[in-house]
Amino acid sequence: MLIKNDLYQEAKAFIELCCQELGRTDEECEQRLADIQLEIDSYGTYTHTYEELSFGAKLAWRNSNRCIGRLFWKTLEVFDARAAKTEEEVAAAIFRHIQYGTNQGKVRPAITVFKEERNGSHIRIWNHQLIRYAGYERNNQVIGDPASLAFTRACLRLGWKGNEGRFDILPLVIQVDDRPPQWFEIPKQDVLEVPLSHPSLEFEKLGVQWYGVPFVSDMVLEIGGIRYTAAPFNGWYMETEIGARNLADERRYNLLPQVASLMKLDQSSNATLWKDKALVELNVSVLHSFKLAGVSIVDHHTAADQFKLYETMENKHNRSITGDWTWLIPPVSPATTEIFHSKYDNTVVKPNFFYQDSPFAELLN
Ligand code: ARG
Repeated sequence: MLIKNDLYQEAKAFIELCCQELGRTDEECEQRLADIQLEIDSYGTYTHTYEELSFGAKLAWRNSNRCIGRLFWKTLEVFDARAAKTEEEVAAAIFRHIQYGTNQGKVRPAITVFKEERNGSHIRIWNHQLIRYAGYERNNQVIGDPASLAFTRACLRLGWKGNEGRFDILPLVIQVDDRPPQWFEIPKQDVLEVPLSHPSLEFEKLGVQWYGVPFVSDMVLEIGGIRYTAAPFNGWYMETEIGARNLADERRYNLLPQVASLMKLDQSSNATLWKDKALVELNVSVLHSFKLAGVSIVDHHTAADQFKLYETMENKHNRSITGDWTWLIPPVSPATTEIFHSKYDNTVVKPNFFYQDSPFAELLN
């Protein structure tokens, strides 16, 4: 936790930004800061109003240098779940978030903010994403998602039983303070999944699917010096996240050889560019399948155009943008997008989302 004066300085910077952008008067701003100073003096911390929490979460999205989807930062729905105390209450708020964000496929960006870290008391969601596939090691081979190996092992140790399938939805694991973590099966009807098909190729033969909505759940949201260690958020997918990474990376589902076989490509030499051809069709398949299933998704060309529009909009409000070029360029045909030919300042501005230490490393030692 920050020492009192550092916390006040962080709070001040944030509150002044709020006042400026939300059009509060100087008097209102000074009054709020005086209240915060008193609160910090007495309790060593302070509590955000809903307006501050909501605006702070939106700013954290606006400041996420690696995110290409920031044009929509103002539309973020912010659920205040700071009153949730028990593991059951946290799980219930998360299931509501999944339902709201999924919205039968018409995906709505949302965040649920749980109680902030306070004197060592904290809430952690162990999952990297609320919905993700398990990964199991069997005879030196991986079944499922290799990215989930460690977390899956943690779930099994906690008593969860996996089916050892390629697409098993992992349970939700919640830890409150130093209590033992609790796991909850996510209600089946809340999980939207999309089987892969293709406009002309027989992708059904691959028997591959992906879940409809990414809910990142392991980052800490920092607003005005306050750390929200459990604040899962979601947007909609960009197709390359699934088609060029999750399903294509050699260290993930590694599907390019199977797609190339389906396409009857010559895989005997790198120079036939079979990987590139397979990659494009895999991405076509992801876009096609999501559209068919009525699930929101954006292609990387449109997302790149929207990012440029975001930059223009910000400049109109006399704000400069920050960004991480290495993450903003899409992994497919990067040079066809304007982003590739631009430069970005990668300064980290707060509020923002940050990585935090894995809460289950100890359990696996
Ligand atoms: N890249 C991650 C995945 O493939 C999701 C990260 C967040 N993505 C988003 N579109 N909001 O699962």
